[in-house]
Amino acid sequence: MRWMILYALLLMGVMECHAGEDLGNKVFLFPKQSSTAHVILKPEAKTSLGKLTVCLRSYTELTRNYSLFSLAMSGENQHNAFLILVRPPNVCSVYVDQIHNSIKTDPEALDWKHTCVTWDSDTGIIQLWINGKLYPRRVSKKGFAIKPEISIILGQEQDSFGGGFDLNQCFVGEIGDVHMWDYVLTPNDIQKVVTNDQTGNVINWRSLHFEIKGSVLIQPKLQCKYPGYASSLYSQC
Ligand SMILES: *[C@@H]1O[C@H](CO)[C@@H](O)[C@H](O)[C@H]1NC(C)=O
Repeated sequence: MRWMILYALLLMGVMECHAGEDLGNKVFLFPKQSSTAHVILKPEAKTSLGKLTVCLRSYTELTRNYSLFSLAMSGENQHNAFLILVRPPNVCSVYVDQIHNSIKTDPEALDWKHTCVTWDSDTGIIQLWINGKLYPRRVSKKGFAIKPEISIILGQEQDSFGGGFDLNQCFVGEIGDVHMWDYVLTPNDIQKVVTNDQTGNVINWRSLHFEIKGSVLIQPKLQCKYPGYASSLYSQC
């Protein structure tokens, strides 16, 4: 009998390790400017990435540069392996392997914003989608691949693997619905992500493995407005 209980406990432990947390109706709140507060996201599996899609929703009143999603590779000078850096009022910089591509966007509004970025090493093509709208595509780092040893951080911009944060590039505000795929989503799938009908296979907000460092709160998502919906009114969610 005792071994059965032990076995059950062991099984529960294993399951707990593998099941992430469902943050479906939650957001991360980064309440103030800081060079320490951040969230470490842990990918589902360690594989090298030659293609990817990252999507997330954000809400901020920042008017300076800020990091939305920072992915560093281990090793010297590989901290901008994949970085989404917003430069208000109307530029979004996508870095692939340290090279930055500045894409002009519509001006920032004080509202929830949904951002997706895809990159495909076969062609080097970068797609930037904001609120379901595609901006002119760029080509960067054809043939490059992100190595499996990566560090993904929300709230701060990495200038070294897992660190080197800069107070003036930190995120302040709310972030939610963070998903990542190891392939390029179709335009149709991007629209599904905007309305929360698609989840990531590398990072999945509905089953998230993460670690909070410093002052970051998990709070209920109080209001939603999904672009692309017939009704663009604010609603409770
Ligand atoms: C914002 O980011 C861009 C791109 O990295 C950089 O060239 C610029 O100097 C930054 N602006 C400030 C004020 O730091």
